[in-house]
Amino acid sequence: MLENNEWWRSATIYQIYPKSFCDTTGSGTGDIRGIISKLDYLCYLGVDAIWITPIYVSPQIDNGYDVSDFCAISPEYGTMDDFDKLLQEAHQRGLRVIMDMVFNHTSTEHSWFKSALESKDSQYRDFYIWRDPVDGHPPNNWQSKFGNSAWEYEANSGQYYLHLFAKEQADLNWENPAVRQEIKNVMQFWAEKGVDGFRLDVINLISKQQDFPDDHAGDGRRFYTDGPRVHEYLQEMSQDIFQRYGVVTVGEMSSTSEEHCRQYSAPSGKELSMVFNFHHLKVDYPHGEKWQLGAFDFLQLKAIFRDWQQGLYRQGWNALFWCNHDQPRIVSRFGCDKQYRVESAKMLATVIHLMQGTPYIYQGEELGMTNPCFQDIHDYRDVESLNAYRMLIDKGVPKGEVLEILSARSRDNSRTPMHWDNTEYAGFSKVKPWISLAKNAGDINVKMSMEDKDSVLNHYRHLIRLRKSVKVIIDGDYVDLLPHHPDVLFYRRRNEDNELIVLSNFKPHTVSVEDFGVDMSAGKILIHNYNDDLHVSSLLSLKLRPFESIAILF
Ligand code: GLC
Repeated sequence: MLENNEWWRSATIYQIYPKSFCDTTGSGTGDIRGIISKLDYLCYLGVDAIWITPIYVSPQIDNGYDVSDFCAISPEYGTMDDFDKLLQEAHQRGLRVIMDMVFNHTSTEHSWFKSALESKDSQYRDFYIWRDPVDGHPPNNWQSKFGNSAWEYEANSGQYYLHLFAKEQADLNWENPAVRQEIKNVMQFWAEKGVDGFRLDVINLISKQQDFPDDHAGDGRRFYTDGPRVHEYLQEMSQDIFQRYGVVTVGEMSSTSEEHCRQYSAPSGKELSMVFNFHHLKVDYPHGEKWQLGAFDFLQLKAIFRDWQQGLYRQGWNALFWCNHDQPRIVSRFGCDKQYRVESAKMLATVIHLMQGTPYIYQGEELGMTNPCFQDIHDYRDVESLNAYRMLIDKGVPKGEVLEILSARSRDNSRTPMHWDNTEYAGFSKVKPWISLAKNAGDINVKMSMEDKDSVLNHYRHLIRLRKSVKVIIDGDYVDLLPHHPDVLFYRRRNEDNELIVLSNFKPHTVSVEDFGVDMSAGKILIHNYNDDLHVSSLLSLKLRPFESIAILF
């Protein structure tokens, strides 16, 4: 493991979705050797660490988030030797490696669950959450995040087990100390190998309210989100593993609150290094409904940024991100993936990367990759999207409308293969990939982006370098200077030495900002997404062109 305790506060982390990153075996699926072959590219980009989504043995019902063996590599990705090599090659280049740990649930193919199924007396029965039927029905009305009841009936024992996700992902019973011990053993196994950190999947769902009440006002989440013993469990993990091995930890927090996130990531606390929250990625869900289309609420987006930037300032630490393997591509969502693709991708990058926290880049985001616009249900692979399709059709929503919703909302939007070059399968594979490529790989790919000094890729490289050299990006406070402006996000970061302002137009038209309330003449332009000269002395009032964004340091 590489030393230096809080390296992650000035770091940028790159997320790899191995299935879609690079295929070296001709299987149509990416693999570990593919990751190794691209480490030099990641160094060129300038990131400090990689987070690899699950590569453990898994039936792949949820693309590896249904783990059946936490300490073995899935053959489709390679071998443990390949992994050891990856770790070594990454460390040689100064890149740290963060593993994805899925401990809210296991696959129902995991040996613990299989043993639990064999007999009610199995020592593993209590590794999961079993309840008797109530009047012939599930024990309560909680809904799975992937649709329908969160309980699955198991006929042999006549009991239901809980699954907050797919029915093949059975929730672990963290109340049982033996479960917590096994989880620590798994993390110890990887920490002993020398990995540098853990990304903890839906970690704020692990503690359920033990009376399992019906939820008359929602889908049940309030009875298990940031649940009664979650902080206690994390402190235990931290004391026994995280602190002992000095690993970085990032918790994925589903529907969480600022108050809990301050506690999870408090600098003095003994829980996690930082937190992902998703509130800023729900501002286009009408009434919180993911499977409905709606315009995005820009004022709400700004308010959420303000709350989280200020709410965790000196009290916690945010993971900063627009994209991951569960989200559509941001340029197709809050930007413009046609006429202003390059400008809007750069603007969105600037906005996030100059906030306080640790930025995460999801593979392809640094190229400005777009949603693929799938037109046919057969293009989709994701269990959540396929369930949503059936659910919407059953509700009577016309098929065309359902496909339109999926093409904006599906997690598969970000899971299409990485674009390396403009060959037939974009340099991802020599054969047809497991999921179709986006059709624009010929125009948007690493090779072309490296050759173009004005590419989105080069903008990301610039932002990553700025974080290393401009301290106020790391420790400055955050003030929204135009909270009510309908088009522009204008924030200021300040520490004892410097002031940084970031001004961004989120709209596809020119907007005027007349009175900045800030004298720009003494500043220096740090980064700008239009390729022309702009003199700070001229910035008393400004017309911001479509998606224009500029950062000025004082
Ligand atoms: C997380 C993962 C997602 C997965 C879910 C269940 O949200 O990011 O991909 O489906 O947890 O493990």
